[in-house]
Amino acid sequence: MSDHPESQQFEEWRRFWKSEQPEAARKAIKLPSLFQLWKSTLEQLSLPSKGSVLLELGAAAGSVSRIASQIPSLSANKMLAFDASIEALALLQNGESAVVGDIRRLPFATHCAKLVTSQFAVEYVDVASMLAALDCVAPGGYFVYVLHLKQGAIDIECGINRDLVQTFINSDFLSAANRLLCSALDNETDTDQRFKANAFKAALGNTESALLKAPECQGRDTLLRVYNAVADMIEAPAAFSRPEVVRWFDSTSAELASYVARMSQMQNAALSEDELSAFSDAAIARGFTILREGAVFDRSLSVRSVPIAFHIVGRRDQEAPE
Ligand SMILES: C[S@@+](CC[C@H](N)C(=O)[O-])C[C@H]1O[C@@H](n2cnc3c(N)ncnc32)[C@H](O)[C@@H]1O
Repeated sequence: MSDHPESQQFEEWRRFWKSEQPEAARKAIKLPSLFQLWKSTLEQLSLPSKGSVLLELGAAAGSVSRIASQIPSLSANKMLAFDASIEALALLQNGESAVVGDIRRLPFATHCAKLVTSQFAVEYVDVASMLAALDCVAPGGYFVYVLHLKQGAIDIECGINRDLVQTFINSDFLSAANRLLCSALDNETDTDQRFKANAFKAALGNTESALLKAPECQGRDTLLRVYNAVADMIEAPAAFSRPEVVRWFDSTSAELASYVARMSQMQNAALSEDELSAFSDAAIARGFTILREGAVFDRSLSVRSVPIAFHIVGRRDQEAPE
């Protein structure tokens, strides 16, 4: 569960969905195991073929609705995609109706949806709000959640990414590069430029050895992009104006800080086994039958023995309890 201040939490996601990274995110969502899980689960649910509301929470670019729209028996239903990020919802492509807002304050009527889904989103809020979201499920309707799992593959990779990028931020690499470039662009004396070049060389050595030792991961790819961009500028400073350079360093530092915050959020969102069973028990107490729950594994990953997620499928009893 995240305890990040709300507005800041949303800001990291808005920044992410505005950036060029959604391509990478789309690939991640297409993990074969997740695609198969959603497809087979959605096909098995006994849902009306049209006229019902299917609500996806934290839908972003439509992780579940995209799959639902390919299932002929579901495609004539009304798909609502709900997310805090308008930038993410702008990427929807399957005729979903976009609704912007906070899962903690859902603007929907009780029992409005025959199906409520979430993939890696509803767990970003507190358990009480996660449970309150179930009020949207109509009698006889379902919820299907795919959730971040503590010590799951995503949790572990987020930790590696976060530590790697944080160490890079803490290093002197960016500030030394910035000082050297500005020194060259300001035509400072040779002595000053040499002094700054030496400081940069020292920082470069440390960064290169850290990158060489780093495991293959998204964090390393992110840092390699930054490293290459810096190398291009250092090689030909005259090709860049001073304001361009200053802007690039400011925005890159902000991007990296946001990346670390997002990795931390994802880790904070990951649920322990105890939290998952407490959620499942509370759903039962609210009038749901749990049809299926358990860890999700992905054979395409190098670490096949570590689950990537936890999934839970529940159906609301026909008679909602008083
Ligand atoms: C890890 S992404 C998952 C997105 C998508 N479901 C997927 O699988 O790719 C989490 C999403 O939840 C959204 N989100 C996080 N907290 C939220 C909240 N309190 N209310 C609404 N959306 C939220 C973010 O904007 C982001 O798009």
